[in-house]
Amino acid sequence: MSQNQSVWTSIRFWRQSAAWVTGFAVILLILLTFDTIGQITMGTDADLKNGITKRVPAPTVINYHIDYKYDQKRGHEVPVIGKKEPFFGKEWSPKEAKELLHLGKLTSQAKNCMNCHTLLGNGAYYAPDLTKAWIDPKWKDMIAMTGSKTKEEAMVKFLMDPSNNATHGRRMPNLKITKDEAMGLVAFLKHMSSIDTNGFPRGFSKGVEEFKAGGTYAH
Ligand code: HEC
Repeated sequence: MSQNQSVWTSIRFWRQSAAWVTGFAVILLILLTFDTIGQITMGTDADLKNGITKRVPAPTVINYHIDYKYDQKRGHEVPVIGKKEPFFGKEWSPKEAKELLHLGKLTSQAKNCMNCHTLLGNGAYYAPDLTKAWIDPKWKDMIAMTGSKTKEEAMVKFLMDPSNNATHGRRMPNLKITKDEAMGLVAFLKHMSSIDTNGFPRGFSKGVEEFKAGGTYAH
């Protein structure tokens, strides 16, 4: 660089800066990748038994009650894995829970739920967001409407015959889902509702609070 050349017009300065910024960004991205992998790695059955909170809990989370509470520090609701509760009348072993969840996931892909619904931020907004569908207070009415004993039973009945159990103006078509597939889907939806999504979808819990207070739950 000659004495009277400004640093801002020096090619050497810009080349060096570009190399440093690129190098720093590469290291940062590698660290962030490991952090993300750590955050989204599924927990284990032992984590659940020991009360260790994982962002994505093990499939056996379907054996537990799932609730939400407001986290002051984070500024949104977070899932709370509560006491054990029977799911379709029983406790599912890690192997059974994994298989059921897998069937549900495959069914959701085969029947293309995302064509109308959103799951964990992916999909369409024609129909209600399904990310937290399991905790939708609407199922309370659906239990009565379908003459079911439990929420999971009501959800199966809805999924197998949605147009005869409609609750919205828009109807969901009959996708010819079998009973086993419907049970898998309900497990899939229950597991998804237990995932800590940083309060996504925005405002879902507000709807829940309004519903509890006697209002209607708007999606
Ligand atoms: C063609 C569009 C379409 C497809 C595909 C579709 N749905 Fe729906 N779904 C709807 C509509 C519309 C509603 C609202 C109707 C109602 O509640 O009566 C709905 C409602 C629901 C609800 C109730 C949600 C709530 O909290 O109110 C669930 C659960 C659901 N669908 C699950 C599924 C699953 C699982 C799949 C894939 C197997 C699927 N849907 C595929 C259109 C669709």
